[in-house]
Amino acid sequence: MSNKFNAIKERESSLLCNTYGRYPLAVSKAKGCRLYDLDGNEYLDFLAGIAVCSLGHSREDLADVMAEQARKMVHVSNLFYQEPQLDLAEKLLATCAADKVFFCNSGAEANEGAIKLARRYMRRVRNKDRFEIITLEKSFHGRTLSTLTATGQQGPIKDGFSPLPEGFVTVPFGNVNALRGAINAKTAAVMVEMVQGEGGVRPLPTDYVNDIVALCKENNILLIVDEVQSGLCRTGRFWAHQHYGITPDIFTSAKALANGLPMGAVLCSNETAKGFGPGSHATTFGGGAVVSAVAAKVLDIMVEEDMAGRARDMGAFARQEAEKLKAKHPDKIAGTRGLGLLFGIELAIDGKDVWKGLLDKRIVCNLTQGKILRLVPPLTIEKSDISAFMATLDTVLAGLDGPSA
Ligand SMILES: Cc1ncc(COP(=O)(O)O)c(C=O)c1O
Repeated sequence: MSNKFNAIKERESSLLCNTYGRYPLAVSKAKGCRLYDLDGNEYLDFLAGIAVCSLGHSREDLADVMAEQARKMVHVSNLFYQEPQLDLAEKLLATCAADKVFFCNSGAEANEGAIKLARRYMRRVRNKDRFEIITLEKSFHGRTLSTLTATGQQGPIKDGFSPLPEGFVTVPFGNVNALRGAINAKTAAVMVEMVQGEGGVRPLPTDYVNDIVALCKENNILLIVDEVQSGLCRTGRFWAHQHYGITPDIFTSAKALANGLPMGAVLCSNETAKGFGPGSHATTFGGGAVVSAVAAKVLDIMVEEDMAGRARDMGAFARQEAEKLKAKHPDKIAGTRGLGLLFGIELAIDGKDVWKGLLDKRIVCNLTQGKILRLVPPLTIEKSDISAFMATLDTVLAGLDGPSA
């Protein structure tokens, strides 16, 4: 570790609450698909700020939009009508079958809004006391009290925060009977990610999704899809639920929406939108002029440059190359999975050693569930970058022992 790194680490420990298990890297600059540390060393970025900077880091075109809007109007509050928000809403709704949108500031806030909308819709529109939300094991929906309760994982995310809010039930992944058994007169909605990101890059099987949709219809309850990570072209369609040909009652977005500025969205049908009325839900910052202008430009670029197609092609290439590595290191790679550029390599050996080996060779990616390398690079990544990643992974794997007997 360089002196500069040690100094920043020490400085932070006396200033910030200790909530993050940081990577041993301090980033001073990010451009395109590259990060730079304090000493100017270059890293290949397969993380994109955790699936956020889908169009690459520090783009001139987005910086121009940001600066232009910042000089005109930054924030006036949601007490006023504002065109940038409406321009964005039109573009966003054109990408999907939803009719209405509510803007907020993060993924957790979007999911919180979706949960509130489902409950209020049941009470105010359907006159039913239905409030329970069913989620899946290993899901991740955020860290507000409600969304962490909805999250189907245990450990530090939940530890010490009780009492957790009522009205959440988690069922095992892939088990239709368990879901059927969990639905009751209090159920308002089922909430799922189409590809569990934090949960280990696990796409929901098509039959399972069809069964979930059928159960929601049969029981007259809502389907909420959390597209915070999977949305906005990452999986090879504009929205991951479009792979399955389904129309959720509510779905959420965040992460890549403003390519690094904080923004979230709750999208819903006209029918479900009746659940909200003036005063029922709000945010001071949501849909502010600067983030809205930037997000509108992000959507323009994603559509004009067919980022979904690019994610599909690059994802297929990454898969093909990873499968070659699996054939070469069958004792070290257990499998590959994902959709588009939400891509996972499941390791059969200690994931931390592999992840650290890559970082030492200046490749940044994420390790989830202890043994899954989660690859979520900018969608602008080049084939040559993917090849460089795989060649480095090959070297790292070759240098590590196989699984102990
Ligand atoms: C599927 C999913 N939902 C919700 C969230 C929470 O988003 P945020 O961290 O913006 O609150 C995340 C974050 O990783 C996510 O992956």
